[in-house]
Amino acid sequence: MNAVTPTLPAPIGLLAELTHRCPLRCPYCSNPLELDRRSAELDTATWQRVLAEAAGLGVLHVHLSGGEPTARQDIVEITRTCAELGLYSNLITSGVAGALDKLDALYEVGLDHVQLSVQAVEAANAERIGGLRNAQPQKFAFAERVTALGLPLTLNAVIHRGNIAEVPALIDLAVRLGAKRLEVAHTQYYGWAYVNRAALMPAKADVDRSIRTVEEARERLKGQLVIDLVVPDYYAKYPKACAGGWGRRLMNVTPTGKVLPCHAAETIPGLAFWHVQDHSLAEIWAESPAFRAYRGTDWMQEPCRSCDRREKDWGGCRCQALALAGDAAATDPACSLSPLHGKVQALAIAESALETAPDYQYRTIGGAPRTAVPEGAPV
Ligand code: SF4
Ligand code: FES
Repeated sequence: MNAVTPTLPAPIGLLAELTHRCPLRCPYCSNPLELDRRSAELDTATWQRVLAEAAGLGVLHVHLSGGEPTARQDIVEITRTCAELGLYSNLITSGVAGALDKLDALYEVGLDHVQLSVQAVEAANAERIGGLRNAQPQKFAFAERVTALGLPLTLNAVIHRGNIAEVPALIDLAVRLGAKRLEVAHTQYYGWAYVNRAALMPAKADVDRSIRTVEEARERLKGQLVIDLVVPDYYAKYPKACAGGWGRRLMNVTPTGKVLPCHAAETIPGLAFWHVQDHSLAEIWAESPAFRAYRGTDWMQEPCRSCDRREKDWGGCRCQALALAGDAAATDPACSLSPLHGKVQALAIAESALETAPDYQYRTIGGAPRTAVPEGAPV
């Protein structure tokens, strides 16, 4: 195993947020509320150096993400660099605007995998959620070209109140488009999704039905389609190991070169994030105060500290603990052992029962949302 020190394993994945620019405006975007502008983005040479450092550190997978990564003029050069370094490259894309025009060139330079977002199956609903007219036919054309090139395709559908009824249709769509994998990812309430929580929260009965639908389809489509299911935290019994555990598996480089342990880490006050302009990735992984803050189990409070699941889920999500408990070192209130769990579930039930969901606050660069946090948070 690659290791930075004898006790610290190397990260396996690098999320390269190449840009925050995106033609879509999804109300559950995991990008921060303060989006980086194009003028502040890292240049090509710096990204290439970062990728070389990642390969040297032992990273295996690079997720070329954003925003919309194909909005970068240099996406083909960056992808070629991944291939030259032996890094497995995954393009996380909306498939709209200029994405299709660049796809063949990306394939030529060695792109390994494509993850395409879908907002819904029904076009009007998909385009309402994504905030972009005429997006759906572009996505379908993009998916067709991905499979025609022989590239493995994953569809990613973020599930919420506005599309949960379409889970069966999303599974059919994945089969029809020739995807190898479908991610049925219930919304995680950070970033823009946190602001839009009351508009997005599905009813528990609908969540349970969607889980049953996935379980049935997994059996039916064995050998044809793999379906990953991310269950909704607010209705869960135990939290997920967010980002695979803080500072354990992933590094996230923002468009301006800040290196984060997870995509929402900047919401935690008092953490110092190091930049790729000032430090190597290896230094940041081993020494950055932000990566060290919640690595391992020493920082844990009760009930995590003495829980036998503490090295399975690593206490859940620090950003969610901050948002809901007001303390990033608290047990994630998604956990049924957290004293706040009952309140979180009650809040989800109340929001999902709203007769009319509030309007979306669409993601936008430079446009502050109308409300920074939903009513009633922290609980
Ligand atoms: Fe995980 Fe902490 Fe809950 Fe135990 S108490 S299951 S470690 S979040
Ligand atoms: Fe930051 Fe979960 S999003 S730890």
